Amino acid sequence: MTMKQVACANNWSLFWMLILSCCCCCCHLMPGDTFRPSAVVSAENVRLDLTTANGYPWRASLPNGSLVFEGHVPGGIYTDLERASILRSGPLLYRFNDGNYRWVAFNDWNYELDFDVDSNLVNQPGVFLVFHGVDTIAQISLNGFFLGETDNMFVRYRFNVRNLLKVEGNQLRVQFRSPVTVSRNRYEQQLMDYIVPPRCVPPEYQGECHANFIRKMQASFSWDWGPAFPSMGLWKAVSLETYQSITLRDVYVETSLDGSDWQVDLRMHCETAYIGATHSGTWRIQIFDNKDVLIHEFINDSLISGDEEREATVRFQLKIGADQVRSSYYYLVFTFYACEIEPWMPNGYGNPTLYNLSVSYSENEQVATTKNIRIGFRTVVLVEDDLQTGGRTFYLQVNDVPIFLKGSNWIPADVLPELVTPEYIRDLLTSCVDANMNSLRVWGGGIYELDEFYQTADELGILVWQDFMFACSMYPTTSWFLESVSIEVLQQVRRLQAHPSVVLWAGNNENEAALRGNWYGTLGDFNLYRQDYIILYVDTIREIVRREDPSRPFVVSSPSNGKLSEEEGHIARDPYSELYGDVHYYNYYANSWNCSSFPKPRMSTEYGFQALPSVYSWATVADPSNDDDWSFNGALLSNRQHHPLGNFEMELQVNSRLGLPKSNLSTGTEKRTGLEDMIYLTQMHQAQAIKTQTLHYRRHKYQLSENGAGLTMAALYWQLNDIWQAPSWASIEYGGRWKPLHYFAVDFFAPFLCILTELDDGTVAAFVHFDRQQDLVAGILTVSIRSWDLLDPLASFSSPVDQDVMAGEPVWIRSLNQLLDETGCTRETLYGDVHLSL
Ligand SMILES: *[C@@H]1O[C@H](CO)[C@@H](O)[C@H](O)[C@H]1NC(C)=O
Ligand SMILES: *[C@@H]1O[C@H](CO)[C@@H](O)[C@H](O)[C@H]1NC(C)=O
Ligand SMILES: *[C@@H]1O[C@H](CO)[C@@H](O)[C@H](O)[C@H]1NC(C)=O
Ligand SMILES: *[C@@H]1O[C@H](CO)[C@@H](O)[C@H](O)[C@H]1NC(C)=O
Ligand SMILES: *[C@@H]1O[C@H](CO)[C@@H](O)[C@H](O)[C@H]1NC(C)=O
Repeated sequence: MTMKQVACANNWSLFWMLILSCCCCCCHLMPGDTFRPSAVVSAENVRLDLTTANGYPWRASLPNGSLVFEGHVPGGIYTDLERASILRSGPLLYRFNDGNYRWVAFNDWNYELDFDVDSNLVNQPGVFLVFHGVDTIAQISLNGFFLGETDNMFVRYRFNVRNLLKVEGNQLRVQFRSPVTVSRNRYEQQLMDYIVPPRCVPPEYQGECHANFIRKMQASFSWDWGPAFPSMGLWKAVSLETYQSITLRDVYVETSLDGSDWQVDLRMHCETAYIGATHSGTWRIQIFDNKDVLIHEFINDSLISGDEEREATVRFQLKIGADQVRSSYYYLVFTFYACEIEPWMPNGYGNPTLYNLSVSYSENEQVATTKNIRIGFRTVVLVEDDLQTGGRTFYLQVNDVPIFLKGSNWIPADVLPELVTPEYIRDLLTSCVDANMNSLRVWGGGIYELDEFYQTADELGILVWQDFMFACSMYPTTSWFLESVSIEVLQQVRRLQAHPSVVLWAGNNENEAALRGNWYGTLGDFNLYRQDYIILYVDTIREIVRREDPSRPFVVSSPSNGKLSEEEGHIARDPYSELYGDVHYYNYYANSWNCSSFPKPRMSTEYGFQALPSVYSWATVADPSNDDDWSFNGALLSNRQHHPLGNFEMELQVNSRLGLPKSNLSTGTEKRTGLEDMIYLTQMHQAQAIKTQTLHYRRHKYQLSENGAGLTMAALYWQLNDIWQAPSWASIEYGGRWKPLHYFAVDFFAPFLCILTELDDGTVAAFVHFDRQQDLVAGILTVSIRSWDLLDPLASFSSPVDQDVMAGEPVWIRSLNQLLDETGCTRETLYGDVHLSL
């Protein structure tokens, strides 16, 4: 691109500023490695992926050599053993194989690669081996020389191999240790000081203990919806990266409004070949839309100098849209353009418009490093205003528009990350948009998702509430742990920061509530555990996030009371308060179709009910000829029901709402029919229960109760997707099949809909509900009162709906008793429906 291709003229100003800054990070320095000026002419940086797909023949083995087989990178030990036909009881998720194959996790495993490289690569000033994802505890060596130990699945490791790499006959060896053993040893070590609970997961999980002692997907040790597959392996690429001077790793992008001007703050996070040497080069920054280059700027003679960790950050600031030049000492260049920027908006609120940002760095007229990313122009604020009625608001505002978060909670797409494809991620996220969702919470017991997840969310306009990966446990605060977490947080924030879809960081899942509620027996030493909590989430994680990403809000936990939690010493008196922050709410014993049992929080970020998976999913893991596999009370279904009392609760709810199937669930040939009936009934129960609760939350966007509750701004049900075929809260089964709940979600998340509900004062009322005034549709609202056993309504009522109907005001209202009298129904036999005709 040249300047001539700049499509717009006048009225834009582009300024930049330059600041050099250093930061601390992890990196393993090699002894005796000092700067040597190079006479070699600049060449473009090279990244050579030493992956299976690129033809590199990795080997996996037991350390004693008794098993040697083909390894895959990226990959994992379970899938490699399965491919090598060493696991002989069938597919990994078939029947009881989660238990049958657990031995894999108790062993240590090696991954090795012999490889040659082009001589050009060996001679570069910077030669690094980069491990983009190691799961998890491993010692790495190259040509017999120990490079270092890894201990965090969420960290990228970079080793300087300049003096070790040979042209021929390199031997790379990664020795993994059993994550289960390592975690247990660390837990026992910690016990000598004080216990960091839980002692183990509940027995129903059939899982492994002490996931909290290893920085690995916490759910890989099992969860109440998932199996334990505590895997090992190189789950992301391993690459050889060579460069003359610097390479650009991540780009920070913050867009903010200054009057009507967009300000774009950029930070180029670089890695350098040398420590201390100063490089001088030219940055080229381009921003373009689908057709045209909007901005094209050179920044010459930029100085970059690597710190002790071989890292450097360069900052620039652009201003777009101002029609006058501002004089300020750090604005060195300005150019005028006149273009309209279309802001990025979430699904249902406008277009998620993306622009391409292309950044490159050259030295001596040769491009060394380039990055192309897609950015969106948007601001985001978490609004916590005092309310006269008590409490504070708690909602997100994107580009000044308050957004009601409609969506669900995301768990890892697979228990083995190597099995996730970008296509599957896209399929799941498209299902969200198809169900009128605009938000997902990436839950803190999984992984920081793959780049493709956030890229697709950017494209589809899905807002992401991003937890840090800490869930349902106390965590250690030993120095090795905090150091590892610090690197993790720094790297992950830098990796994800530029995505417009990510709108909020949250420190952990439910650990504030766990401390306040004494879930793990911490009450006797409350202050000790609270101190640890503050050290980890506030002093460590929040500090880093504030420094690395001032562009979006951070909350310490979900649920929390927001600012009030902080005011109350970070463990709020009532983390579940309806008046502050967000709430997780589960009650499997109340009437799940009756709104009066639900809270009226500012945000509802978790709520749900289990249902069985479909016959189609179940058939992929059950033995077709084994009757017990096809029984509600059979061993296979019990094995997969990890939620304590889960089957009992499903049965209770089905019984109370719909009635149990006539077939006997426990005996003889009726068992299969019984299971099929229960699949249907639990799924319909779940769909109706989540519909009722979701509509309750959506309606309370416009309601403020006498006690100050209401003004709800989020309905994120638990959970979107499944990790295996089992009873779970998911609306989409493992593999992508929608449960009835997901079909219901299309309607209950519609931008405009009618709601019929019983109110607390003994009346029944119909509302029209809309996300935005312009979503309102005028027409005739009809309420029909029906009996379950008749096709024709017992009574019908109509009311006009016009454009000035008030959000939150009922369009139609009757006393329940009067309706019962008029129709001769009882509470149990009566139901109503409501629709709008044009
Ligand atoms: C090698 O290690 C495996 C797993 O620990 C063990 O089962 C096997 O007996 C060992 N084989 C030999 C020859 O030592
Ligand atoms: C913008 O980036 C996307 C994704 O990298 C690419 O597919 C598209 O072609 C780019 N658009 C332009 C105009 O270069
Ligand atoms: C900056 O560098 C670019 C690319 O090398 C060059 O085209 C341009 O003329 C330079 N500008 C100045 C002011 O030196
Ligand atoms: C819903 O629950 C409330 C409070 O328990 C109760 O008064 C009401 O009768 C219930 N409604 C129905 C339809 O069961
Ligand atoms: C199912 O059969 C068992 C054994 O015959 C019996 O004890 C149980 O009561 C039956 N359950 C139902 C719901 O009929």
